[in-house]
Amino acid sequence: MADNSIRLINVTKRFGKSVAVDHLNLEIPANSFISLLGPSGCGKTTTLRMIAGLETPTEGEIWIGDKLVFSAEKGIDVPPNNRGIGFLFQNYALWPHMTVYKNIAFGLENMKWKKADIDKKVNELCELLQLSTYLDRYPSELSGGQQQRVAIARTLATSPQILLMDEPLSNLDAKLRLEMRTELKRLHGTTNATFVYVTHDQMEAMALSTNVCLMNMAVMQQYAPPLKLYAEPVNMFVADFVGNPSMNFVEFDLKDQVVSRNGVRLGVTPVNGGKLLKKEGKVVLGVRPENVKVSAEGEISAKVISSFPYGMETTLVIECMGSDMRTVVFGSVDYRTGEEIRISLCHEKACLFDGETKELLSVVETKIL
Ligand SMILES: Nc1ncnc2c1ncn2[C@@H]1O[C@H](COP(=O)(O)OP(=O)(O)OP(=O)(O)O)[C@@H](O)[C@H]1O
Ligand SMILES: [Mg+2]
Repeated sequence: MADNSIRLINVTKRFGKSVAVDHLNLEIPANSFISLLGPSGCGKTTTLRMIAGLETPTEGEIWIGDKLVFSAEKGIDVPPNNRGIGFLFQNYALWPHMTVYKNIAFGLENMKWKKADIDKKVNELCELLQLSTYLDRYPSELSGGQQQRVAIARTLATSPQILLMDEPLSNLDAKLRLEMRTELKRLHGTTNATFVYVTHDQMEAMALSTNVCLMNMAVMQQYAPPLKLYAEPVNMFVADFVGNPSMNFVEFDLKDQVVSRNGVRLGVTPVNGGKLLKKEGKVVLGVRPENVKVSAEGEISAKVISSFPYGMETTLVIECMGSDMRTVVFGSVDYRTGEEIRISLCHEKACLFDGETKELLSVVETKIL
């Protein structure tokens, strides 16, 4: 099988004066599952369309395997149908007057496949996507999730080495989305294709991908495996975008590896054994909710503002050191509004950001002084 890695080198897309994608460098390894994640308008769809050849970059190069498919400088622009790419749009509109079988077979008939071969391929795909019992139905006789699976089967029929998906699950209900996530992951395991998946749902990106490319305002912020993004966000935007409930940010004054606020003093030691580049000034300590531990022995006092019991876990909003913070407690625990509690900031796994640049200074271990 051909090399289905993708490489974007310094790719920029401008629409008039506005920049939709700004000098993007992205290496997508063969057979990987990567997500383009970010808020609305950050350039996800534009990036995907440029890979597909549906949008022309203003600058840069795009490689698929060892083939240069786009170069602004060299004037190369391989048309979409010669890039070996399958594309699944958000509005996947099936043909309403065709049965499931016909919908999936259509692309292959266009390619003049033999009837027996088409039969074999359609049956194979329907097996894979658990659609075999619906072959004779029309789209209107299927649930949303089944329709979505037909759309995926239709895209897979021509065996693309690369599958680009733009928010393919966005019009499904929460339960179906979860089911389809599992389906997509399984599919990725069985097809050997490279998947590039666009979503603004961070949970989806985290759950599905081998690597997440997080973008904001046309600029890539960080490109890393999901858990690296979670534990070592390069700046406060990434830290805030990834994780639910989101990371707590508390401003502190830094002086010589000690941060202080409202009478609380914490020693902060970089986990990698390195030194903090910043010696003093405003910093922001980022603490994940699960690292704010509620315990009778906790060193810091706090007050419950509200409590959200979700069954398996309870999210608490608390006031602590003059700031609102969120913490997650395992199990269904009942807290009263106004209740005085004590918390402990778990050692290790806090992020120290520069208060001005919002960039990560270091992942630190904290210790109450
Ligand atoms: N054809 C176009 N003409 C002018 N501007 C465009 C065009 N297509 C996209 N843009 C602009 O480029 C930017 C990036 O758009 P894009 O569709 O890539 O965002 P997105 O990340 O996919 O957002 P969403 O999550 O809302 O789908 C936006 O500011 C958008 O308005
Ligand atoms: Mg989009």
